[in-house]
Amino acid sequence: MATKITDLETLFIHKLAQQYYVEQELVGTLDEMAINATNDRLSDSFATHRNETRTQVERIEDVFAGLDRPAEPADDPVLDALEQERHSLEDRIEDDDLLNMVYLNAGLMTERIEMTAYEGLSTMGERLEYPDDVIAPLESNYDEEKSAYRELNTMQSASELKALWDRLSPSS
Ligand SMILES: [Fe+2]
Repeated sequence: MATKITDLETLFIHKLAQQYYVEQELVGTLDEMAINATNDRLSDSFATHRNETRTQVERIEDVFAGLDRPAEPADDPVLDALEQERHSLEDRIEDDDLLNMVYLNAGLMTERIEMTAYEGLSTMGERLEYPDDVIAPLESNYDEEKSAYRELNTMQSASELKALWDRLSPSS
């Protein structure tokens, strides 16, 4: 059985370690989605966020360093489930535009989950009275997740995806 978590500091480290795992995995995921998405704007957005995510991994390493802890990832079953779901849909879908929709939705869902993870880490970190070199990198990552979310969300209604939506919608 995993060791018990009995205080806020240990919980913070555990959640940080999980987010470290999430960011590391997402570099690969975003890379795959950037390659597989056939919509250029969607693909570009995933590629840009993949590059940001590489920096996010480094920022989490800075947080570990600020706490004088080794940077070690911890499994996150939530991310694993999202990945499983994406792979299962990829196996079942051949239409490129339907797959673009799967990627858009997967991207939005991931960003929301990440935003919530960083909100939790910041709240705990502030309660623990951690210094700015611990809190600031978490907030920078949070801001990037928020703008990635916003960009994908705008895309849902943007003209770039209009042709795609029109093709997939039943004609009346
Ligand atoms: Fe991220």
